[in-house]
Amino acid sequence: MMSASRFASTAVHVTPGYRLGNGGNEERPGSCSSARADMEWRPTAAGQTTPTAVLPCRADPRANSRLQTAELEGGVKTKRRVALVTGASSGIGRACVQQLASAGLTVYGTSRHPKRRRGGGDLPMLALDVCRDGSVRTCVDRVISETGRIDVLVNNAGVGLEGAVEETSLDEIRAVLETNFFGAVRMMRAVLPIMRKRRSGRIINIGSAVGFLPMPYSAAYCASKHALRGFSESLDHEVRKLGIRVSVIEPGFVRTDIVEHSPVAAAPFEPYISARSNPARAFRQAIARGVDPDVVARTVVEAATEQYPRLRYLPDGTARMVSLFRDVLPSPLFDFAFRKQIQMNED
Ligand SMILES: NC(=O)c1ccc[n+]([C@@H]2O[C@H](COP(=O)([O-])OP(=O)(O)OC[C@H]3O[C@@H](n4cnc5c(N)ncnc54)[C@H](OP(=O)(O)O)[C@@H]3O)[C@@H](O)[C@H]2O)c1
Repeated sequence: MMSASRFASTAVHVTPGYRLGNGGNEERPGSCSSARADMEWRPTAAGQTTPTAVLPCRADPRANSRLQTAELEGGVKTKRRVALVTGASSGIGRACVQQLASAGLTVYGTSRHPKRRRGGGDLPMLALDVCRDGSVRTCVDRVISETGRIDVLVNNAGVGLEGAVEETSLDEIRAVLETNFFGAVRMMRAVLPIMRKRRSGRIINIGSAVGFLPMPYSAAYCASKHALRGFSESLDHEVRKLGIRVSVIEPGFVRTDIVEHSPVAAAPFEPYISARSNPARAFRQAIARGVDPDVVARTVVEAATEQYPRLRYLPDGTARMVSLFRDVLPSPLFDFAFRKQIQMNED
């Protein structure tokens, strides 16, 4: 049996050139070499992060659980990295919880209705409405009281809204921004002091390809993802020296129930009703044919564990292709191709 002190003695310092692989698929937790969850990127004097790996041999679950619950220094109660994933009851969030747990992190998922919408199997599911300050505070406090740390925040909670700008009220637009943008901002502001004190942390924001593309009849959603992208990029510059990195993941179409979970503008009227029917159908079909949420979740694991995370990740072929075309094609040509793709260039 491995004692906690013996466990501590297995800590090794890995050279800065160490690479963590491709997202956790090549090594399974349970093997002594599956150490990615216990990597911590600690800033050196030069502000450069240096990985410190604790290699727990998970073959002895009793030793592991003793370590999990042991009261460690600085109020930290576990040596395993802790991730908090918002909106984990379905789709991408649920996949993130599962993939991060498989990669060996201690993961907390959240839902506004944690009893009704379990999502992550046996994994802890906390109540959280990102639109409410009190709910954010309670949720973050709960994770801290149980573990003493939050190493990875995945801001995934989000909603869409179908409707032309003229059909959409300001309140409807605000509601989308409140969840997708201000909700993520609330979460970031809640975890930043915790990460800053530990001089270590990863914030991973689930943006979208419409964070750099237009999306007619979803202007509010599109604006929320553009805002999230700009915010993420700016914040990353502010906190890099503090050992914290911010990444934004920008998927194309992902096979989830987001359309069913998202409202349509409450006051539809002509000429928009008929004009948006084709693009809306094309959008629904693209979601139905989209990539599996696991594709995005594997990218999230990458951003959470890579020594040098990227600012932007494009997890699927569609997102990579449209990003490339947007960069290289003359804008009238891109505009034509884009409208054709979303069935709007019949006029
Ligand atoms: N599907 C796609 O094609 C696609 C593409 C690019 C980006 N995305 C982004 O990926 C993220 C996840 O979307 P998804 O496709 O997986 O959709 P989804 O299955 O509808 O999941 C959305 C999640 O957000 C949570 N949520 C909604 N409002 C919330 C609030 N006020 N507070 C806390 N949680 C809230 C929901 O949880 P509860 O209802 O249980 O609270 C749900 O778990 C979103 O940010 C979305 O914009 C999706």
